[in-house]
Amino acid sequence: MKTLRLDVDADGIALITLEAPDKPMNVVSPELIDDMIAAIERVAADASIKGAIVTSAKPAFMAGADLKYILGIAGGALTLKQAYAFSQKPSVQMHRRLETCGKPFVAAINGLALGGGYELALACHHRVIVDDPKAVVGLPEVTVGLLPGSGGTQRLPRMVGLEKATALLLDGRSVPPTEALQLGMVDQVVPAAQLLAAARAWLLNTPNPVRAWDVKGYRSSNGLLNPAVVKVMSERPAQIAAQTRRNYPAPIAILDCLFHGLLLPFDKALQLESKHFARLLCDPVARNLIRTSFVNRGEASKLARRPRDIAKSSVTRLGVLGAGMMGSGIAYVAAQAGVEVVLIDSSLELAEKGKQYSVKLLDKAVERGKQSRAAADAILARIKPTTSYESLAGCELVIEAVFEDVAVKAEVTKRAEAVLSASGIFASNTSTLPIGRLAEASSRPAQFIGLHFFSPVDRMPLVEVIVGARTSQETLAKSLDFVGQLRMTPIVVNDSRGFYTSRVFQTFIHEGMRMLEEGIEPARIENAAMAAGFPVGPLALLDEVTIELPWKIVQEAEAALGANFKRPCAYDVMRRMLHEIKRPGRRHGGGFYDYPKDAPKHLWPGLSAAFPPARKQPGVEEIRDRLLYIQAIETARCLEEGVITHPADADVGALLGWGFPAWTGGPLSFIETVGMEKFVAEAERMASTYGARFAPSDWLRARAEQGEAFYETALPRTAAA
Ligand code: NAI
Repeated sequence: MKTLRLDVDADGIALITLEAPDKPMNVVSPELIDDMIAAIERVAADASIKGAIVTSAKPAFMAGADLKYILGIAGGALTLKQAYAFSQKPSVQMHRRLETCGKPFVAAINGLALGGGYELALACHHRVIVDDPKAVVGLPEVTVGLLPGSGGTQRLPRMVGLEKATALLLDGRSVPPTEALQLGMVDQVVPAAQLLAAARAWLLNTPNPVRAWDVKGYRSSNGLLNPAVVKVMSERPAQIAAQTRRNYPAPIAILDCLFHGLLLPFDKALQLESKHFARLLCDPVARNLIRTSFVNRGEASKLARRPRDIAKSSVTRLGVLGAGMMGSGIAYVAAQAGVEVVLIDSSLELAEKGKQYSVKLLDKAVERGKQSRAAADAILARIKPTTSYESLAGCELVIEAVFEDVAVKAEVTKRAEAVLSASGIFASNTSTLPIGRLAEASSRPAQFIGLHFFSPVDRMPLVEVIVGARTSQETLAKSLDFVGQLRMTPIVVNDSRGFYTSRVFQTFIHEGMRMLEEGIEPARIENAAMAAGFPVGPLALLDEVTIELPWKIVQEAEAALGANFKRPCAYDVMRRMLHEIKRPGRRHGGGFYDYPKDAPKHLWPGLSAAFPPARKQPGVEEIRDRLLYIQAIETARCLEEGVITHPADADVGALLGWGFPAWTGGPLSFIETVGMEKFVAEAERMASTYGARFAPSDWLRARAEQGEAFYETALPRTAAA
């Protein structure tokens, strides 16, 4: 047996030790299931064996499924029939055989047991866990669009009750041992040194190896009429539908497994679970969520696009020019990461004010007990506010976050470069100005790069790394290392107007304004955006950034492009809101919304006079699709033009940068979710209805015709069905 060892001691206790070769953790794999089935049969058949302990030789008991493997078979790679065959997978039968084989099994949980790992523990007749907060247990499948498909949705509610199981399965929360004991998720918590002894002691007590649900006359539905359970059953489906806007099928499927499964005999309930699992496996949402949270983000954080042949570097001293909103945030995250920061502004007062931002955040962290006073003071001591450019000596990297003005940026570039060492890098945090244009002020454009942080820096984990035409590979590698040092997620983007994130984000807010101009009711626009899964609607968002920002971007583009400039679809709305109606946004007292002092914000009533609603209104779905399509089309253009070179960068950038809905997996995954051909046909329809901005390019059309997806989703290793 490759993945486990089976040893039998003098008392007739079998010790099954999981130890997947060449892997940091045990995962549910076809090999492990085969080995476990063989071990269970041996325990069942050997009259000298009284019972078995299942434990692990690795630090963790067992993680769940191999998500890369699941990714290969999720989201349409299998037919529903194949998926059902897969979901009634040997692991379901293995668990069932384990609990009905006539010998008692105890899980000695020596470390983390999540997903399939915890399901194995649930199938055992008893669970002992180490008293270590890292040894968490739980069923997190919902977070990747799935449900525990090996009996988890049936055993857990039968053990802990429907109310607790519903919360645990819908949150997907990892629970530490003491709380797991209180909830009934485990039976005993013991110090690590006593784990196996406690498991043996339980086995030697000749326990009954029959689960409650296998005793004749068992009714899991007993107690279903208690008021708390009735409340959960009657309220949860509607709550879930409202929360997820029906974009996420897993929570609803879990509720069905729980509510209907408990009314069925156990084996029938397992079949119901398998059916739901199969449907979720075929749904693109599971594939998108797995890709998003584990693969794409992991690739981005691992700096997959870092030039390989350049030695790893780190920044010990950072210069930040401009101690405004962005500069002060960058100084804070860098000091947190152990970097010395020289924080420069045009006056000492402004530089000190920038440092105060960190003081405030750290005071709050100390107050809440998240940081010790000493640690907070050490971080603060690293930030040196000054006006002196000479202090930049010794900085490996300088990031400028001064006003968004080419001349101001050129001046600070020159002043900093005069002090920087030959290898020092100069980065701009510009949100709109092309890096190539800013690099014209640099005497060493190979060491000039864009590092575009998002606001507020301490809460937004994304950094758009913009490579100019003359930026060297070494500068890129070092910049990516710095982002890694900050534990933030980089995406690599080639220079272009608006780079990637601002460029695509603009299409979202422009489309929202355009709809208003067409006579679509503003509340309908906002609701449709939220129904799609955006955190806020485009009009509310515009009020936050103020119309001045997109208007300035348009003005810049007009000045730079001259005759080649094309007015965006919302040009007139922006001009009117800014210059005629004079409601630029929240900061100026109001925009599309009113912000009364003592009441929640509401849409400005004057909007209906300024943009009269049409008599016939489109459905929410049409608006929702329009908002998603316009961004997906622009993203595809970025890939076509080489602004983005890897689909993961585009999708991660959209999800982390402006809250593109997670169920889609990002704009490129969204195209695949719709289906390339269907997407192109629908985009053509929108182009003929709303304008050429929706027209798919020849490149995208050709890809769709050839069935060339953005991601490779070939089946890995073993075929599933
Ligand atoms: P801000 O106006 O809050 O801060 C700019 C700071 O630069 C001010 O403190 C100003 O006194 C200082 N400054 C101006 N000229 C200077 C000089 N010659 N030497 C030293 N300091 C000087 O602006 P904010 O919002 O922090 O933006 C800064 C940069 O970051 C801009 O390029 C902006 O486009 C970009 N950005 C802004 C984002 C945002 O959400 N506000 C997001 C991402 C990038």
